[in-house]
Amino acid sequence: MHSRFIFILPLFFLLTGCYSSATSGHQSLSSIVFLVTGNVYPTGYYYVTVNIGNPPKPYWLDLDTGSDLTWLQCDAPCTKCFPAPHKPYKPNKNLVTCMDPLCASVHWPETLNCESPNDQCDYEVQYADHGSSLGLLVNDRFRLKYTNGTVVEPRLAFGCGYDQEVEASMNPPYTDGVLGLGLGKASILRQLNELGVTKNVVAHCLSAQGDGHLFFGDEFVPSSGVTWIPMSTTKIEKHYYLGAAELLVGGKTSGIKGLPIVFDSGSTYTYFSAKAYNALVSLLMNDLRGKQIYDANEDKTLPVCWKGSKPFKSIQDVKNLFNPITLSFAKSKNVRFQMDPEAYLIVSKYGNACLGILNGSEVGLESVNLIGDISFHDKLIIYDNDKQRIGWAPANCSKLPNINNGAPERRGRCKPDESNVDILQAYCAA
Ligand SMILES: *[C@@H]1O[C@H](CO)[C@@H](O)[C@H](O)[C@H]1NC(C)=O
Ligand SMILES: *[C@@H]1O[C@H](CO)[C@@H](O)[C@H](O)[C@H]1NC(C)=O
Ligand SMILES: *[C@@H]1O[C@H](CO)[C@@H](O)[C@H](O)[C@H]1NC(C)=O
Repeated sequence: MHSRFIFILPLFFLLTGCYSSATSGHQSLSSIVFLVTGNVYPTGYYYVTVNIGNPPKPYWLDLDTGSDLTWLQCDAPCTKCFPAPHKPYKPNKNLVTCMDPLCASVHWPETLNCESPNDQCDYEVQYADHGSSLGLLVNDRFRLKYTNGTVVEPRLAFGCGYDQEVEASMNPPYTDGVLGLGLGKASILRQLNELGVTKNVVAHCLSAQGDGHLFFGDEFVPSSGVTWIPMSTTKIEKHYYLGAAELLVGGKTSGIKGLPIVFDSGSTYTYFSAKAYNALVSLLMNDLRGKQIYDANEDKTLPVCWKGSKPFKSIQDVKNLFNPITLSFAKSKNVRFQMDPEAYLIVSKYGNACLGILNGSEVGLESVNLIGDISFHDKLIIYDNDKQRIGWAPANCSKLPNINNGAPERRGRCKPDESNVDILQAYCAA
């Protein structure tokens, strides 16, 4: 169970300024779409293939809206790399220096610590699951293809990670690194936006059946049916923070209010703080009383599992026994984020239903509530940094969402490349 949430202390940090968009003038930029591979269980992560370098080589990168820095396992040389699908990236005199503003942005507090202006820029990221990556900032070309077929090769800064750690009890994800989609300066998205390549909007659609899509730009944002909530200005620094919510189970209030909510695609499961978690577990247990479902303490897949009179094959077999879990945001006109059983249960290999909402207090998340991949299932989740808002809409993530503008005229102009061949073929044939 990976969680890419980055600890920054103090977690609550009042921002005095506002983020401003560098490219509000780019009215109709085309978007970039990636095919996503992976699932919550048993894999535990979702990744996209990104082509980097000259000549470009493919790398599998774990999607992470919970952190900024993109990094690849790197032969600088590598002191600690994990088995990965591709050879480690080789830097080629393309170091970012410690004077670069991006270097400051990957450090906390954001200060420069340069002895000489040409020093390399070291970074270290630590995630909530105690994983980490240590290395140097470099820059190189990312080969990206717009949905209209045009290829762009912007130079972007990223981490060349030569020393990675993961918690001993955990398998490292079989990827080459992490794709940082957070809102800080180092984020790939923010860099693309500053270069005028795409709008500062990213969206993902993760299917409960596995796989899905990732979008840069706003071409795929539906013109209706999206529930929007402003990104909270009293932010948990550098995270997609939606403000405080009340917890409801089966439409009834739990009495638990004021839960700070963060969206983080780098976290496999959802984490509630102890008070919300305790209330949730007891409410779910109450609801199940008298139903043909029992505790399965022997199943260690996740901390809370239930068995039926015979093994469950899929969520379909249990979903009618469970109520939706809802987060209601009082400050935003009681906007609701609803999690149906598909968005908080998995069926383990033993045929039990296990709760995919975990106790965040046990992993040191304190009062933050992290909404992770499991709860994004079959929703288009949109992080619109240009308009400072986050949105969601129901979606069949096995299919490409409808295009907002000019869909018919695009037909025939699609030229799929390696990283998006399937999706564009489906799209062009539609
Ligand atoms: C595709 O979109 C990009 C960005 O909006 C634009 O610069 C480019 O000219 C477009 N290409 C075509 C063939 O329309
Ligand atoms: C959640 O974690 C906290 C802190 O470790 C603990 O006190 C609490 O009992 C846990 N809740 C449950 C239901 O296990
Ligand atoms: C989602 O789309 C896929 C592919 O078109 C289709 O096979 C599946 O039945 C759809 N699922 C739902 C719930 O509509």
